[in-house]
Amino acid sequence: MASEIRDNVKEYYGKVLTTNENLQTNACVQVEKVPERVREAISLCHEDVLSKYYGCGLVFPNSVESTKVLDFGSGAGRDCFVMSKLVGEEGFVTGIDMTEEQLDVANKYIQYHMDKFGYTSPNLEFKLGYIENLKDAGIKDESCDLIISNCVINLSPDKPSVFKEAFRVLQEGGEFYFSDIYADRESPQNIKEHKELWGEGLAGAMYWKSFVELTKEIGFSGPYLVTSRPMTCGNEGLEKLLGDSKFVSVTYRLFKTSKKTEEKNCISVKYKGTISDSPDVFKFDHKNSFDCSFKPVSTDIGHVLKNSRYAKHLEFMTVEPDCSRSFEMSVSPNPFKVANVVNGNNEKPAATSKICC
Ligand SMILES: C[S@@+](CC[C@H](N)C(=O)[O-])C[C@H]1O[C@@H](n2cnc3c(N)ncnc32)[C@H](O)[C@@H]1O
Repeated sequence: MASEIRDNVKEYYGKVLTTNENLQTNACVQVEKVPERVREAISLCHEDVLSKYYGCGLVFPNSVESTKVLDFGSGAGRDCFVMSKLVGEEGFVTGIDMTEEQLDVANKYIQYHMDKFGYTSPNLEFKLGYIENLKDAGIKDESCDLIISNCVINLSPDKPSVFKEAFRVLQEGGEFYFSDIYADRESPQNIKEHKELWGEGLAGAMYWKSFVELTKEIGFSGPYLVTSRPMTCGNEGLEKLLGDSKFVSVTYRLFKTSKKTEEKNCISVKYKGTISDSPDVFKFDHKNSFDCSFKPVSTDIGHVLKNSRYAKHLEFMTVEPDCSRSFEMSVSPNPFKVANVVNGNNEKPAATSKICC
């Protein structure tokens, strides 16, 4: 069953789809505001790479200069090329994908992008491999600062292995920042067995509560929800099959903070204004943004931030007791409520400035 799903997905992204115009959902409609540094890097990408972008969100967190980044399911490489620009020549980006046709496009344009960015040697590579087994692709334990992924995990028939591998290869304090599709229920059998719905990312979309449980079981801190938006399917036939099932595209952050905190007191956090393109506010998730005044956070968010690459941009202050209010803030919210998709109240995305489609 697992190998059948993989072969089907490989065929879909290698042979069936030629550009993102062929997609049946609004997955790769860009509705989030694109930061200037990302917009600039995208504008430098080759049009063949852009036309084969099949992502469903923006996977570019702040403060990535000089980091080692791994992209799960890098496809034709758009996000890797953008990251290559953002991490600079001191950083390094590795893209992993199982579909040769996708990798061929990515590899073909490496030199094109290095020339555009003015780099003397490539700071990125693409590897053929499965995200469920990164050892075979030569990815070592604790070798990455940041993992990104854009609309890929839903396509995996073995999600526990994907998150276990992410946990293994991340350094202590490292971050997994990714966009993917989630369902409001465990998918019924007829959806799970539908070839095209697998390819479109809907059949394999995780029930969001199962996702939250799985990542906690594996030992991640989080998930912290950054953005959530409704997903719709433009194909009438497929929509009928989906019945009452609803889907959202969500960007989450997970952190590897294995050493648990002994901290019992509340922590307050203040942003120093040192992230180059974001001098006023550091947005951590949809509820927590930091500016130049101290703000109390739950002990788990405080601990995550202290151990992450964001620590250098923040000041921490321990405040005496009552953390009860801030503890409540750290519960992972229902992404359907955040996206305003509840009880059939499925609002269509408002602005649709399309990057890809
Ligand atoms: C929806 S596309 C997204 C590609 C890319 N992230 C982007 O935003 O354009 C999914 C990609 O994931 C790859 N993929 C799916 N399952 C995979 C797996 N188990 N291991 C490695 N790559 C996988 C596919 O080959 C395809 O290129």
